[in-house]
Amino acid sequence: RKKIILDCDPGHDDAVALLLAHGNPDIDLLAVTTVVGNQTLEKVTRNALAVGTIAGITGVPFAAGCGRPLVRSIETAPDIHGDSGMDGPELPPSDIDLDPRHAVDLIIDTVMAHEPGTVTLVPTAGLTNIALAARKEPRIVERVKEVVLMGGGYHVGNWSAVAEFNIIIDPEAAHIVFNEKWPVVMVGLDLTHQALATPDVVEKIAAIGTRPAKFVTELMDFFAHTYKDAQGFDHPPVHDPCAVAYVIDPSIVTTRKVPVDIELQGTLTLGMTVADFRAPAPADCHTSVAVDLDHEKFWNLVTEALVTIGDP
Ligand code: BDR
Ligand code: CA
Repeated sequence: RKKIILDCDPGHDDAVALLLAHGNPDIDLLAVTTVVGNQTLEKVTRNALAVGTIAGITGVPFAAGCGRPLVRSIETAPDIHGDSGMDGPELPPSDIDLDPRHAVDLIIDTVMAHEPGTVTLVPTAGLTNIALAARKEPRIVERVKEVVLMGGGYHVGNWSAVAEFNIIIDPEAAHIVFNEKWPVVMVGLDLTHQALATPDVVEKIAAIGTRPAKFVTELMDFFAHTYKDAQGFDHPPVHDPCAVAYVIDPSIVTTRKVPVDIELQGTLTLGMTVADFRAPAPADCHTSVAVDLDHEKFWNLVTEALVTIGDP
């Protein structure tokens, strides 16, 4: 099984990522960590615990991390995710106790406790926790198998013309993560804008008939409205589970090896993931970008995970 740490800011699509990671038999979910992003740390942490409760997750540590970016001030996304960060469904009180450790320490402890080359980091939020973990315990950089992150985009932005939310909210952290020499797979908007929750997909999920499945349809309903109003999408792109799906079955996502760096100076381009498509890629290139998604296989993984989770 593939061991992952999910670092997230639930977040409608983070919730689906967590459900996919928990419900897929090939994933060994080692830890769930939270970071300020779609909403404040307090709100996204509460949401993560609520999703864990709905999914019946037990025995997996959940820890809260950074409450603000490294340098910039906090920027949240209420226009997309609502005031709670996960508006739409009613959230149950959590039956999961938060791990007392800071997320950065939980990430470090978990990576160091497992064999080198076995733990994949899956950040689906700003990269503050991951950057700090790399700085606090540099040995994790060699030890981690790869970093498969949702963020960025090589030809389109969503928070500016050229920058994506998870990168632009903490560009300095992203700069650290993309410049450490671990393998980085950037699952960016180029890919995730193909992961649309079309009506047939939502119908299939609704037909499962369980509480977690109903929870997902309620999330998608809210997400559809905000993505239509705020960004003109006919169907909402469900970004974050794409990174988990890539870890489960890399054949679902085609990738290309290209150098990627983060713009920190640009007046128009702050937070841009600058990808160099000139061939050939340098021999020491350690970054790749996701290009094409197999829509059907992707949504099958999500629905199968929900079937496996059942009604806990
Ligand atoms: C990313 O930003 C967040 O709002 C979503 O949860 C996703 O991780 C998409 O740009
Ligand atoms: Ca997210």
